[in-house]
Amino acid sequence: MLPEVSFIFGGISTESDSSISSLEHIISSYLTIPDAERPFSVKHLYHLSQEDCLVRTIQVHSALTSSDMRAYISDTGARRGRTLICALDEIQSRKEYVVNLLHGQFGEDGGVQTLAALLGLRGTFGDPYVASLTMNKYAMSSFVSSLLPNEVVKVPRTRLIKSQNMIDEMQIAKSLQGPIVVKPNSLGSSLFTDLFQDTALSEPDIVALLHAILEYDSSALLQEFIPGSEYSCGCMIDSLGVTVLPVIKIETERRFFGRNEKCSGDLVRLKIVDCGDTISNRIKSIVSRIATSIDLYNIARFDFRVDDSAGIWFLECNYIPGLGRGNIFPTMLESHGMTVIDLISFLLSKSSQFKRKDHRIRY
Ligand SMILES: Nc1ncnc2c1ncn2[C@@H]1O[C@H](COP(=O)(O)OP(=O)(O)O)[C@@H](O)[C@H]1O
Ligand SMILES: [Mg+2]
Repeated sequence: MLPEVSFIFGGISTESDSSISSLEHIISSYLTIPDAERPFSVKHLYHLSQEDCLVRTIQVHSALTSSDMRAYISDTGARRGRTLICALDEIQSRKEYVVNLLHGQFGEDGGVQTLAALLGLRGTFGDPYVASLTMNKYAMSSFVSSLLPNEVVKVPRTRLIKSQNMIDEMQIAKSLQGPIVVKPNSLGSSLFTDLFQDTALSEPDIVALLHAILEYDSSALLQEFIPGSEYSCGCMIDSLGVTVLPVIKIETERRFFGRNEKCSGDLVRLKIVDCGDTISNRIKSIVSRIATSIDLYNIARFDFRVDDSAGIWFLECNYIPGLGRGNIFPTMLESHGMTVIDLISFLLSKSSQFKRKDHRIRY
């Protein structure tokens, strides 16, 4: 009998659209495979609605199209939803294997991972503490800079801004030489991320942006801008270790992978830079070192800048990389000879399950 897999997607964060794109890409690829050749069967699609925070189940059948899926997702009034806790409880009672496609807040930051760990769910949730670490750019950068020496990978000088320290930190920020990037500490998709050439001249705009960020995130970052090129490198993790995928160079006209670039495919070119390229070999070795030093399960993707002196700078680790058509991770997979369907098969058959340790020490 084929292994069965369910997916949970959508979610309450601003990144729910990316989550829907990831699901659509996987399901539409799955439905193009003839029945007899499908490597797994899809049991349920669980949509967590951004509108009412309820979960509704979509049944998968061979005639299901992307527009049917879109209609199910948007028409929340037509079907009764249940709370996430009820849905997870049902999933647990059926011992379903669930691929977690909830991107962003709650889905990727340790929120749903904690519920999954407490309920003992099977699937790709992983370790809640590792999810929170990776989602916290400041903490993750501190981890990377203590793990690896500066000559191997650098971390941009950064100031952590909270509502309480905004005024003091703005004074210090003015002493950061050169352009700075302002971004949220734990939102993704380049939301509220901007580049300022002159900190002193742009102070009112920076303060306004910081206020906007702090409405949604508990902290914001003021970070030294690293001129140069943008690279990303993904990996897959199973019980035998880490498989590092081909490195991608992300080319954009303004050499900044901001919100506009992420929302419009036309402004971005993804280029595989793998074979024998020194930068890509160094990036792969960094990814391998980081990924083997934290308890990652399943997959992850790491973003870097590379300056004109070939210095490599760590930006962030994406705990649940986007899997939408044309996204960075599927492009890396393709270059590795895999589709998103092969990835799901890999997760089902090879990746390990996170098991919460016993909390009670029996002396
Ligand atoms: N310190 C920096 N120097 C240069 N560019 C940056 C810096 N920080 C962020 N960026 C740009 O903003 C993009 C988004 O930042 P990133 O830290 O990867 O967060 P996220 O992708 O989660 O929004 C990066 O891909 C990069 O193009
Ligand atoms: Mg990024």
